[in-house]
Amino acid sequence: MDTATRWPLVGREAELRAVKAALTARPQRSLVITGAAGVGRSRLAREALVAAAQQGHPTAWAVATGAAALVPLGALAHLLPAVDDGATGLALLQRATAAIAGDGTGPTPVLGVDDAHLLDQMSVTLLHQLAASSAVTLVLTVRTDAEQPDPSAPLWKDGLADRVQLEPCAAPNSSAWSTWCSTGTSTPGPVSGSGCSAAGTRCSSGSSWRTACAAVG
Ligand SMILES: Nc1ncnc2c1ncn2[C@@H]1O[C@H](COP(=O)(O)OP(=O)(O)O)[C@@H](O)[C@H]1O
Ligand SMILES: [Mg+2]
Repeated sequence: MDTATRWPLVGREAELRAVKAALTARPQRSLVITGAAGVGRSRLAREALVAAAQQGHPTAWAVATGAAALVPLGALAHLLPAVDDGATGLALLQRATAAIAGDGTGPTPVLGVDDAHLLDQMSVTLLHQLAASSAVTLVLTVRTDAEQPDPSAPLWKDGLADRVQLEPCAAPNSSAWSTWCSTGTSTPGPVSGSGCSAAGTRCSSGSSWRTACAAVG
C-alpha cells in the first residue's frame, strides 16, 4: 500500500462520492479539490487516483512546489521525454501533451497534480489544454488560503472540472475509532456521522492522529 494512503480514510464520504461520480461519469470529469492547508486535499486526491487505477485508468502523480515552478514544466518533468536544449515553448508543450495524453487508445489517463496553485505558467497552460481536449482527466489540489491565484478556476468556472471543497474537520467520536486508536487493531473503516465529518488538521501524521483519536471517549 502506498504510504500516502496507508492510514484508513476517515469520514469524507460525501466528498469521496463526488470524486467517484466524476471518475465514473462518461465522459469522465476532471476534479479540483480545494481547501486550506492540512485539511486533507492531497489525501483525497490520492484516493481519487487509487479509484481511477482500480477502474483500469493509467495514473500519474506530480507535486507542484515553488522551486519546481522556476523551471517551465518543472513539476511535470518526470513525466516528460528528454527534449533538446533549443526546443521552443510551443515544441515543449506539444511534446508534453503527447507524453501525458498518450496515443488516445485505451482508458483515459488520469493525472493528479498536488498543490496546483504552485505550478508555473506553462504547466497551467498544458493542463488547461489537456482538460479542454478531454485527452487526460485531471485531479488537481489547490489551496484556498494561498497567496497565488487559483489556476484551476477557469476549469471549474467553464464546467471542465468538478470542484470539491474540503472544510476543516472535527475529531472522530465513534467507539469503533476509539478502539482502533487505543489498540491499533481492527481498522473500523470510514465512519459516518457529524462527529467524524472530516479529518486532516487533526491527523497531520499517523502518530498525532492516533493521539487525537485516543482521547475521544
Ligand atoms: N480523511 C482522512 N482520513 C485519514 N487521514 C487523513 C484524512 N485526511 C487527511 N488525512 C491525513 O492528514 C494529513 C494531512 O492531510 P493532507 O491531505 O496532506 O492535507 P493537505 O493536502 O490539505 O495539506 C496527512 O497525513 C493525511 O494522510
Ligand atoms: Mg497537500
